[in-house]
Amino acid sequence: MRIVRRLQYVVAKLQCEKIRLHDADLERLDFLSKELSLIAPYLAEPLASEFSKILAGIRVGGTYKTTGRGRLQATERVICDYYADRLRHPLNFLDLGGSDGTTTLDAVRVFRRKLCVDVKACLLDLHPWLLRYCRGPVTEYRSRFEEPILVRIGKWGLRLNDGSDDALAQKYLQMAWFRRWLKRGGEVKLVNPLVQRDSSITVHAGNCFYREPAFEGRFDVVRVSNLLNLSYFPKPEIRTAIGHLHNYLVEDGLLVISRNDQREETEVECGSLWEKSGERFRHLEDFGGGSEIKSLVEKYPA
Ligand SMILES: C[S@@+](CC[C@H](N)C(=O)[O-])C[C@H]1O[C@@H](n2cnc3c(N)ncnc32)[C@H](O)[C@@H]1O
Repeated sequence: MRIVRRLQYVVAKLQCEKIRLHDADLERLDFLSKELSLIAPYLAEPLASEFSKILAGIRVGGTYKTTGRGRLQATERVICDYYADRLRHPLNFLDLGGSDGTTTLDAVRVFRRKLCVDVKACLLDLHPWLLRYCRGPVTEYRSRFEEPILVRIGKWGLRLNDGSDDALAQKYLQMAWFRRWLKRGGEVKLVNPLVQRDSSITVHAGNCFYREPAFEGRFDVVRVSNLLNLSYFPKPEIRTAIGHLHNYLVEDGLLVISRNDQREETEVECGSLWEKSGERFRHLEDFGGGSEIKSLVEKYPA
């Protein structure tokens, strides 16, 4: 009887401590990268979608890596509508916080098809890879700034940063001696293999709150989706990022900022489009009710 109760206790503990069976199999990302380089592009789409799905459950530095094919179609539509009048070749496109680049690739394909332009895209993301630390059966994944993300033994993974007061994760993190004993074992790329092999997309590890001097006046279109959300960052930081975006655009270049809201069963894109006009941004269009940070963009440079 005591053994059964003990077992019940352990199972309940495992469930509430968020130990999960393979729900964030980061090694599978490596496998998919290799697999995808071997097969024909038209067979690759389902594996590329699986790559993005694995990423959706991963949180790094307070934001999720969630992304997926076709989720930013409204942003692509407004960009095409307004870019057609100011067509420049090639179209230099910056996708800020583009995660694994799936949406960057979507945008590149849509721009090529609808605008008949060459596209040079830059995907800037704070976390394009994770670090791997291993010893025997244990693998721990950390961000490039050493934030612990997940530890795995065989099929069992324990999230180390899901924001809850997870006692088991805390106990593991307190084992500093053990964690020091783990050895660096390379990196896990978080960029979708389909994106890695598209030569029109370059991936840049960077932070939207730090100015990139090489980006000054370089982009015709900048998109920021599901990153500059009021729930993620305080207003002064968002204002700083808006200043950098202004600096990165050419005169009359387009800026689109959006957020996907879950409304019952469907995701709705809520965003706005502006053009750079001298020192300011000029509002062009809203979709899905507009961007939640619209007033911050329109008050810029104040
Ligand atoms: C929710 S995903 C959005 C992905 C994509 N834009 C979309 O809408 O499908 C947010 C991305 O922003 C990145 N990110 C978080 N903080 C960032 C920062 N300060 N600078 C640049 N990228 C950042 C994350 O690594 C993550 O890939």
